Amino acid sequence: MVDQTVNVTLTEDTKQKPVAEQLEFGRVFTDHMFIMDYIEGKGWHNPRIVPYQPVTLDPAAIVFHYGQTVFEGLKAYVTKDGEARLFRPEKNMQRLNRSNERMCIPHLDEDVALNAIKQLVSLERDWIPTAPGTSLYIRPFIISTESYLGVAPSKTYQFLVILSPVGAYYKEGINPVKIAVEDEFVRAVKGGTGEAKTAGNYASSLKAQELVSDKGYAQVLWLDGLEKKYIEEVGSMNVFFKINGEVVTPALNGSILEGVTRNSVIRLLNHWDIPVAERKISMEEVYEAYEKGLLEEAFGAGTAAVISPIGELSWKGEQLIINDRVTGSVSKRLYDTLTGIQYGTEEDPFGWIEKV
Ligand code: COI
Repeated sequence: MVDQTVNVTLTEDTKQKPVAEQLEFGRVFTDHMFIMDYIEGKGWHNPRIVPYQPVTLDPAAIVFHYGQTVFEGLKAYVTKDGEARLFRPEKNMQRLNRSNERMCIPHLDEDVALNAIKQLVSLERDWIPTAPGTSLYIRPFIISTESYLGVAPSKTYQFLVILSPVGAYYKEGINPVKIAVEDEFVRAVKGGTGEAKTAGNYASSLKAQELVSDKGYAQVLWLDGLEKKYIEEVGSMNVFFKINGEVVTPALNGSILEGVTRNSVIRLLNHWDIPVAERKISMEEVYEAYEKGLLEEAFGAGTAAVISPIGELSWKGEQLIINDRVTGSVSKRLYDTLTGIQYGTEEDPFGWIEKV
């Protein structure tokens, strides 16, 4: 049984806060972090907030060798009245447990995890940047800590939460990015770990991304692992295409990450009576629509990326220039509405905001 009292040890050495206008994504961390331990038989215990510090593990810890680990990503925002808030954090806690299930990691009590996040964010409240487009990125994660070289689930774990004041994920900011469709490597297959938020999915994506980044592509767009035909996701975001008035996004199929922003986009489009479909969509279909002048917009959606318009898609040697590389009206409306709800300048009709 978890003792829910979080023990707090404050740092004596607070860091200088970065200039909000110069923030990149994920390079600066706050003064404190949260840790909780798990031991088989005892469960999750000893929740504590401590000064931000290195994690010391045995070199044989399972996480180093077999990657038994999961993570989440959500953000804290501050309104102009100074209220700190989270966006649909319960969805991240639910997904964390779905990832845990897939990776044989013991479930966490979602309320305990969320309360820990709130307590940490509240302590680090002054680290939430206020410049437009900035926020405090929250990275909860679990690592397997048992020292054992056999391939088996660990008997011990740590749940940690670190915080990073961030600006835009892409150097393009909210301007359209260039994406290359990947037709050699694959990210995930049905039955694999694609819908879990686990490190290996991201490690295995690096090679493809490295190969296109010299040509100015921000990321690759993954196709399905079997036929390399149907569009899946970008890795750091889910994708949407507006074709002839209808917004289409790949249906969740077991190898696509179920994004919280993805779900929020679908809810908003439904609310606005803009046709939206979750279904299989092939690159051929996107290309045909492009040739007929029916590909109106493309954009990615994710916590880190928010809404990221796609201005150019490269596929089989062709460059598809989308909406003259200008942010489309649906992408802009989604970006403005989501960030408006998050920063408190718009109504929150769905009750998505949770005060810290
Ligand atoms: C997020 O959007 O929070 C993600 O986890 C993407 C990440 C890999 C930067």
